[in-house]
Amino acid sequence: MAKKLRVGIIGTGNISHCHMAGYRKLSDRVEVVAACDIDEIKLAAYCKQYGIPAQYTDFREMMKNEELDCVSVCTWNAVHKDATIAALRGGANVLCEKPMAMNAAEAAEMKAAAEETGRLLQIGFVRRFGNDAAALKDFIDAGVFGDIYYAKATYLRRDGCPGGWFGDKSRSGGGPLIDLGVHVIDLVRYLAGLPKPVSAFGATYNNLGPNRAGGGQKAWAIAGGQDPYTVEDFTTALIRFENGLTVSVEASFNLNVKKDVGNIELFGTQAGCRIDPEVELYTQMAGRFVNVSPAASTALSFNGLFENEIRGFVDAVEGIAPCRATAEDGLVLMKIIDAIYESAETGKSVEIRGL
Ligand SMILES: NC(=O)c1ccc[n+]([C@@H]2O[C@H](COP(=O)([O-])OP(=O)(O)OC[C@H]3O[C@@H](n4cnc5c(N)ncnc54)[C@H](O)[C@@H]3O)[C@@H](O)[C@H]2O)c1
Repeated sequence: MAKKLRVGIIGTGNISHCHMAGYRKLSDRVEVVAACDIDEIKLAAYCKQYGIPAQYTDFREMMKNEELDCVSVCTWNAVHKDATIAALRGGANVLCEKPMAMNAAEAAEMKAAAEETGRLLQIGFVRRFGNDAAALKDFIDAGVFGDIYYAKATYLRRDGCPGGWFGDKSRSGGGPLIDLGVHVIDLVRYLAGLPKPVSAFGATYNNLGPNRAGGGQKAWAIAGGQDPYTVEDFTTALIRFENGLTVSVEASFNLNVKKDVGNIELFGTQAGCRIDPEVELYTQMAGRFVNVSPAASTALSFNGLFENEIRGFVDAVEGIAPCRATAEDGLVLMKIIDAIYESAETGKSVEIRGL
């Protein structure tokens, strides 16, 4: 029997449990042997829950002491770069959560480290592994859409800053654009065939977030104003791609909107579509406009979503399948995010260079 891959986890917070669920599904191929967090209580509870033998509060020490084939980086965003580079240099292949980094300069360093070490660096664009994305990809690959020239990437929460580090720019790098926007912008770019971005124009606001402190109706709303809120609460942007595609973006933690929305819309020469949450296509048949819905549900199911991503990572590490969310794709997204934030500061359209 082939030797099992030895896995380490850096950051044992919320999302690391989803990674763990994925690794546990592959227990015949991988074993999670070490975990690291600066929060010793959380770390101990995590290792106890999953029976992980080695615990570390310093990821460099973990990489020095352990021989790891794979590492999941699940820390807050400000640590992604250093943890990823330490893991790569320690000989491991890395699955780093989205967003890849705080900005494109950090992302470029991470990509260079993967190239130098010859290790795989996959980025946690989990929406690429969703059943809704798979359905749309089938329609797109079959030519149903024709040429896709416009898209909308929308992720709006009425009152949904998760609090803690998510509202602290020094640890998150930004607000809903870098946290939520990355998911839907990447999904559009993935479905549109990974076109190269050339410019972006955007605006950010922080009108509602701090004022809502303590007033939120959701469990994750800012508690009593104790958490920082130094990020934007809303971003709007327009991204232009080399192939002529334009993508309109809206992302919020706080917005006076009726209901929370997370969807994408694609508009092609032959058909359009919306995921909200079922995939629906808008096209023509026999000279009539028709709206087409797949017979089986295509609404995003979280059941199996992260398992698909982890299986994809392990398959790529073992050379069974190509990596489906590369460091290059992570860098492209960070260039887009940087350009939108810069445009919001300057009030001007920003060219995206160096890709
Ligand atoms: N793919 C998705 O849908 C999705 C969903 C949620 C979060 N995320 C991403 O996952 C990452 C973590 O988010 P979360 O919700 O799990 O946050 P979290 O706060 O629950 O967990 C982050 C953990 O990182 C630890 N940490 C911080 N610095 C560290 C260091 N130097 N060494 C080791 N551990 C360190 C913290 O102590 C904390 O336990 C973020 O990048 C976030 O954007 C992705």
